[in-house]
Amino acid sequence: MRDIRNTVILTGAGLSAESGIATFRGPGGLWEGHRVEDVCTPQALHRDPELVHRFYDERRAKLADVAPNAAHRALARVDAEWPGELLIVTQNVDDLHERAGAMRLIHMHGELKSALCALCGIRHAWESALPPESECPDCGEPALRPDIVFFGEMPYRMEAIERALGAADLFVSIGTSGAVYPAAGFVQTARYHGAETLELNLDPSEGSGWFGESRLGPAGTLVPRWVEEMLGGL
Ligand code: OAD
Repeated sequence: MRDIRNTVILTGAGLSAESGIATFRGPGGLWEGHRVEDVCTPQALHRDPELVHRFYDERRAKLADVAPNAAHRALARVDAEWPGELLIVTQNVDDLHERAGAMRLIHMHGELKSALCALCGIRHAWESALPPESECPDCGEPALRPDIVFFGEMPYRMEAIERALGAADLFVSIGTSGAVYPAAGFVQTARYHGAETLELNLDPSEGSGWFGESRLGPAGTLVPRWVEEMLGGL
């Protein structure tokens, strides 16, 4: 631990599972009742905007009923107290990391509480329902859509993420199945640049074999324990 300075932490749906937000691929997952292609592709948005907007409106409304769990709080603590470089990259579109207090955070797959203008590209903080053809406060065009990175679209802030991975001494992946690229490939990038790699997940992920160490269990237990180790070694 003494040699570790720069840390990148990747989080996925498993981190928010204990807060009551369903994961994507587990039983009862978010996609249940909807095919991914029907709610999370640019084609779906074009074909059936009512369905896609309603799907994300429901997810956004649900945020009022959930709260950060022990894992989000532990990550906010390591963010506040870790003296080296640290970046939390989340695939989650909920706001539980920031509600727990995390600051050094990138939402690579977008955010439920944001609307994106499909025409001018400006992102707007958004709390309420977002009906199709809502007007963009900047350009005035009826072109606001959920600010979610759909399959086939480029995740946010990839340059900053790649830079952090290239400089990382430690890469930690938490609560993600390793099924969706480019995030699933971060462990390989970090390893290539010499980082130690650790996975904290309920089940072995698709990429488990790439990690130097895998610890299996619920994030609400594993993450606070790991953060204690991390900060205790300072
Ligand atoms: P998944 O649903 O694919 O995977 C969740 C992972 O969390 C699984 O490996 C579970 O075993 C694990 N898990 C479940 N409960 C857990 C717990 N309490 N503690 C720790 N781990 C737990 O979710 P993601 O990997 O985040 O993209 O999915 C990646 C992307 O796929 C999402 O960001 C989303 C989806 O398509 C977009 O919406 C663009």
